[in-house]
Amino acid sequence: MKIAIDGPAGSGKSTIAKDIANRLGITYVDTGAMYRAITLKLLGKKESDFEKTLNNTKIEFIDEKIFLDGTDVSDKIRTNEISKNTSELSKNPLIRTHLVNLQKEIVKKESVVMEGRDIASVVIPDADYKFFLTATPEERARRRYLQFKEKNVDLTYEEVLKDLKVRDKNDMNREISPLTKSDDAILIDSTNLNYEQTISKILSYIR
Ligand code: DC
Repeated sequence: MKIAIDGPAGSGKSTIAKDIANRLGITYVDTGAMYRAITLKLLGKKESDFEKTLNNTKIEFIDEKIFLDGTDVSDKIRTNEISKNTSELSKNPLIRTHLVNLQKEIVKKESVVMEGRDIASVVIPDADYKFFLTATPEERARRRYLQFKEKNVDLTYEEVLKDLKVRDKNDMNREISPLTKSDDAILIDSTNLNYEQTISKILSYIR
């Protein structure tokens, strides 16, 4: 089975996709983490070195952790700085082609819940189920702000909302594979739904 979940930053995709994969007993793939890991590796490198570096980079998921060249970078890729840089670097065609190919390889081998921005449109156009998960920018920023607060990250709600809107703009307006809802994807707007309600709604289409 192949399930595609796309949506903007802070829509709750990761937590929800992971939970659905666990409930269905299939593999969860966070493609955003792949873009983040590549960004970590390419930060500070010249664009002319990207291709060579990409061909010498190993990205693996082991027990829901992401490994970059053998090192667990699951926490390192979650900083605000990496979020901002990833949004910029993910416009690069070399990086996108490289990661889309890796993602297609994973899909060939196993049943997945794969989440990202271009999964339904580019990576798994023939997915069994396609969902587009979203919420208003204000609600997504509110959720992100609460998560940051729990981790003692010192950002105001206004700063979180501003960053999120910049990322939305980047993700939706880039030339290659911009974030859009594909026509055949089911729209799930979680603005007024709690976590369990969102999960139940998605599962009601799958079961
Ligand atoms: O889902 P996330 O916030 O971890 O994604 C980080 C960035 O990677 C985001 O700005 C958009 C980009 N991304 C992408 O362009 N395509 C994907 N399939 C997944 C993420």
